[in-house]
Amino acid sequence: MTLRQAQDGALALRGEKLTRTFVSAAGEVHACVDIDIEVSAGELVVVRGASGAGKTTLLNLLGGLDRPTSGRVWIGDVEATALDEDALAELRRERLGFVFQSFGLIPILSAAENVELPLRIVKTPPAERDQRVAEALRLVGLADHAAQRPSELSGGQQQRVGIARAIAARPHVLIADEPTGQLDSRTAATVMDLIGELVHTQGLAAIVSTHDPLLVQRADRVIELHDGRITAVAGPAASVTPAVAVEEQNPADEAVAEAPATPRVPLTRAEAREQRRSGD
Ligand SMILES: Nc1ncnc2c1ncn2[C@@H]1O[C@H](COP(=O)(O)OP(=O)(O)OP(=O)(O)O)[C@@H](O)[C@H]1O
Ligand SMILES: [Mg+2]
Repeated sequence: MTLRQAQDGALALRGEKLTRTFVSAAGEVHACVDIDIEVSAGELVVVRGASGAGKTTLLNLLGGLDRPTSGRVWIGDVEATALDEDALAELRRERLGFVFQSFGLIPILSAAENVELPLRIVKTPPAERDQRVAEALRLVGLADHAAQRPSELSGGQQQRVGIARAIAARPHVLIADEPTGQLDSRTAATVMDLIGELVHTQGLAAIVSTHDPLLVQRADRVIELHDGRITAVAGPAASVTPAVAVEEQNPADEAVAEAPATPRVPLTRAEAREQRRSGD
């Protein structure tokens, strides 16, 4: 059995000209500016950028947790930005799974109970709930740890419970904001591998933020954010393509647009090794 909801390549998530401006006493912060982004079923997109680049803001907009100042979001074929709060919440529950840096597990519940919680909220019948919890824990490799509480699990295992909880309701899209931010680099790599495996075997669409350069190797596409703008997109073709919109509209980013076509982001392990060897 798989969680597959859509044919690979079907558009699962789309943002069009997303802009989010925060207004505070200190003035305006342009956290996202004119961002166009698409994620398809069976595709893992990594959003990379320094602290403050706008990663969380972008994922929150795409996940319907925040509203853009302007621009539109589609989750599958439904325009999320046209929905009222209740309809949006229902769409989120039905189609999206979220993973957070802090895991967000409830300490007094077992791994299985944590995974089951969102299914209880949407009133999935008990027999189906049990089946989905077992399936999700199996997919993240924790079938033998179902009864353990978070404090009895390692950080990596806790995040795998977090991922199981996110996929238990069989979402179309997984949205993960720095899911490896609290993990050591080796564990982070295994968690990222797991996300990649789920995407490629289960037909999930996933968008994951990180600032860890080593984790982008697992991505089908890497989007670089800088000051709320997309400054580069790297695909499996292993070339970093300066974002055309940025090139045209933001002269300050000329340096990025003029960067040589060599990949700054390693796309495969071999490329990463090569890059390390050349001391990049
Ligand atoms: N609610 C808010 N009110 C005001 N400014 C905000 C708010 N949320 C984010 N910002 C600002 O927007 C910008 C982008 O923040 P965001 O959290 O999206 O960055 P990030 O890339 O996720 O950073 P990090 O890697 O540290 O998590 C920052 O300058 C931040 O201070
Ligand atoms: Mg963030």
